[in-house]
Amino acid sequence: MINDIENLQFLPSLLLPWFYSNNRKLPWRINSDPYRVWVSEIMLQQTRVQTVIDRYSHFLESFPDVYSLAYCSEDRLLKEWEGLGYYNRARNMRLTAQIIVSQYGGVFPDDYDNLVRLPGIGPYTAGAIASIAYNKKVPAVDGNVLRVLSRYIASNNDVKELKTGNYFKEILFHIIPNDAGSFAQALMDIGELVCIPNGVPQCDECPLNNHCIAHATHSETTYPIRLNKSKRTIQEMSICVFWNTTKQYFLNKRSEEGLLGGLWEFPNISYHFGDGDLKETLSNEYGIETYSLRGKQSYKHIFSHFEWIINAYYIEVFDNSVQSFELAYEDEIDKHYPLPTAFKKLMK
Ligand code: ADE
Repeated sequence: MINDIENLQFLPSLLLPWFYSNNRKLPWRINSDPYRVWVSEIMLQQTRVQTVIDRYSHFLESFPDVYSLAYCSEDRLLKEWEGLGYYNRARNMRLTAQIIVSQYGGVFPDDYDNLVRLPGIGPYTAGAIASIAYNKKVPAVDGNVLRVLSRYIASNNDVKELKTGNYFKEILFHIIPNDAGSFAQALMDIGELVCIPNGVPQCDECPLNNHCIAHATHSETTYPIRLNKSKRTIQEMSICVFWNTTKQYFLNKRSEEGLLGGLWEFPNISYHFGDGDLKETLSNEYGIETYSLRGKQSYKHIFSHFEWIINAYYIEVFDNSVQSFELAYEDEIDKHYPLPTAFKKLMK
């Protein structure tokens, strides 16, 4: 540990000047308002920076402060979140906003321990908010930061293991400078722009290159070490885009718990059937007897740990007796019904 602290002690003096002159003009960096920082960190948890740049300002126009978020309906928030994925983030944001209003007088707490107790705020996000919004000397270690640090000291510890992250956090506690917020963002930026994960890291541009052990030993891409690479599982899925003769689509609301909870979807079945079995399947699954198949397409949709192999059927339904679906016109779906991207694609 002492060796690693000694190696890493130069990090702030190398990173901060680089950050001050290369600071990206990201929309959430206009000021350090904790609400704005929190929104950006939640969006950035599982979404690419460019996508967040495209969506962040609109989100803030719709929900300019913690009160507007606390008092909005879940459907309205999910609609705003549509396409960003990992919808639990949005639901947890609303819960957290309600707690901030009811227990903290509308102001985010400024310390890690209270932040990390809020729904949707894990150790990384609590560290990011405490350091960026309140300049607290708390580490914020995500995959990008782990990669930078692992390469810098050529760490042979598996970055998938919790103890590796904890080890780096402990080191960071010793070296975080007074400008903790800039340091946290500098580490993020180096990881996203220079010390990149796929492809060739941009070591020529890196302010750390004279001190980085992976660079000195030409082994940048050996690090970070990841021992158990898990493979995505494959799931079959058949989606039926039904509409009736007045052009209303048939929708279901997904249950609140689990994957894509609370969002709307087109009726679907978790297996593939042969084209010759369509009639029987529609009759058995949905009680639909008279219809016309208008098209079919196949595609896959990738989630982090699994993928859906989708057969989608476009079907005009002539039965009037089919019940238990929500019926909505296309423009109503656009305005009021949050659909996961895997389903939304089918509207195009
Ligand atoms: N990734 C996660 N948080 C970030 C931030 N605040 N700025 C840039 N990239 C980030």
